Amino acid sequence: MAPNIKNIQGDIWPRLPKKYETFLFFEITDVEQFKHELGVFLKHLTTAETAHRLRGKLYEAKWCGLWSQLVETICTNISFSAAGLEKLGKTDLGDSIFKRGMYHDMVHDGLDRDAEWLGEFKGSRGQIDGVFTLAASSEDTVNNWMADGINPRFSKTVRWLFTQSGAVLNKYDIEHFGWKDGVSQPLIKGLDPENTEKLSPGNIHPGYIIVGEEGDTQSHPDWAKDGSFMVFRRLKQLVPEFTNWAVKNIRPQAELPNEGGLKLGVISTLSSRLVGRWPNGISLEEKPAPSDVLTDKALPEDDGQLSAEDRKLLASNNFDFQDIQHQNKCPFASHIRKVRPRAELMRPDGTLDDTHAMIRRGISFGPVTSNEEKRNGVTTHDRGLLFVSYQSNLHNGFRQVQNEWANKTSFPPGKTRNGGPEPGLDPIIGQWAENDDESNFINMPRFDDPSVTEKWKLERCVIAEGGEYFFAPSISGIKDIIGV
Ligand code: HEM
Repeated sequence: MAPNIKNIQGDIWPRLPKKYETFLFFEITDVEQFKHELGVFLKHLTTAETAHRLRGKLYEAKWCGLWSQLVETICTNISFSAAGLEKLGKTDLGDSIFKRGMYHDMVHDGLDRDAEWLGEFKGSRGQIDGVFTLAASSEDTVNNWMADGINPRFSKTVRWLFTQSGAVLNKYDIEHFGWKDGVSQPLIKGLDPENTEKLSPGNIHPGYIIVGEEGDTQSHPDWAKDGSFMVFRRLKQLVPEFTNWAVKNIRPQAELPNEGGLKLGVISTLSSRLVGRWPNGISLEEKPAPSDVLTDKALPEDDGQLSAEDRKLLASNNFDFQDIQHQNKCPFASHIRKVRPRAELMRPDGTLDDTHAMIRRGISFGPVTSNEEKRNGVTTHDRGLLFVSYQSNLHNGFRQVQNEWANKTSFPPGKTRNGGPEPGLDPIIGQWAENDDESNFINMPRFDDPSVTEKWKLERCVIAEGGEYFFAPSISGIKDIIGV
């Protein structure tokens, strides 16, 4: 049976429509009163059904050219940390990673660095019990809703700790390093249209994302059904430093003299191999780099306008790294191959093992990189990604992808079998321990001869500054928590 869209919170699926988003973190100070207020507030929570309807309306308005003038939206979701749920009387969710919280999991047991975590995520303002996710068509709309809708209702029952806000950077949804974000999301059986393309990952079981649905193998209490574990993570991005690092390493491959300027097409092509997608989102598997790019005139600057053929490629997302021993198109170490390895994890029956799938709902924060920062090669403004993902199992989802894949030089597996080198870390989010210089590398195939690899040292251009694990209960789950 398809998951009940009247019961699921809308950021999990289909996603809250947004141009601007604020995460409002709170500590519960009066449990009984908070439960009462949440009961009254329930009608304002945006369910999957409402979000789906809203997105349809916005799509229509956009189609008619009315998007910015006429449509104002505000959507609200709520999630709780393990500490928050415990306060509310729920201690039986049964997920040890969730219970320990992100600080313990990522700093004590993982590779995040304590000194880089911001105090607010370590409890300096108070214990994070929960977070409101407020997604809207504009910053004013969010602020007005906080002032008139959220604050008066909850201010006597919680202590507001701090907020984190982000905005869609431009109409093409490009993240700070310059690539289109949010392109590839798993499609969910029973919710998204069935994808029958042969190569593409196809639709995954809803239970990989939504608790208690088909495919969820963990046991959970009844009240948790139709909820999902939410990961929130603040990732600072050092953009000019990242670009300079990429160019420094690309230069020898492009065989250009050090003082010579690199052509835009060369930079764009070779740095796209770090992500595995072109800046416009199309994968290098589906549209490999032209072989003459190193000698060629620069590619025209990407203005975000896609040809009909490219639009089709972007929508189909129809590739699977079938050629698992080769990296002629997409390097083993590229971000998308490290974090969603597709055919690298094929089951014996020929289907893809997508049990580690997660749905991403992040948003960028901070201003776009200024010309002065680009000129000086140094970041002076705070910017990055407020990474958000949903999964039914933290161990299988976020934790596996970050700790066991991105941070492990041997992943994707089996590449050393024929004497080849290890892929190395994920060039975007891979982390290594402070004194472990050995693990700090990616092996990049040469563009002109992919059978030859070069070892590049990474620089720390994405810095984990904190976060928390939350649980986003269903509407019936919230009713159970508050006892109505
Ligand atoms: C600042 C940090 C990050 C940046 C700049 C970044 C950038 C990107 C880009 C440009 C894409 C390709 C477009 C798309 O499908 O959305 C992508 C895909 C993806 N990223 Fe990240 N990402 C970051 C952090 C993370 C983290 C922390 C994770 C998980 C631990 C992650 C997991 C994924 C996944 C699963 C995909 C989809 C791959 C696919 O299905 O092809 N990313 N990311």
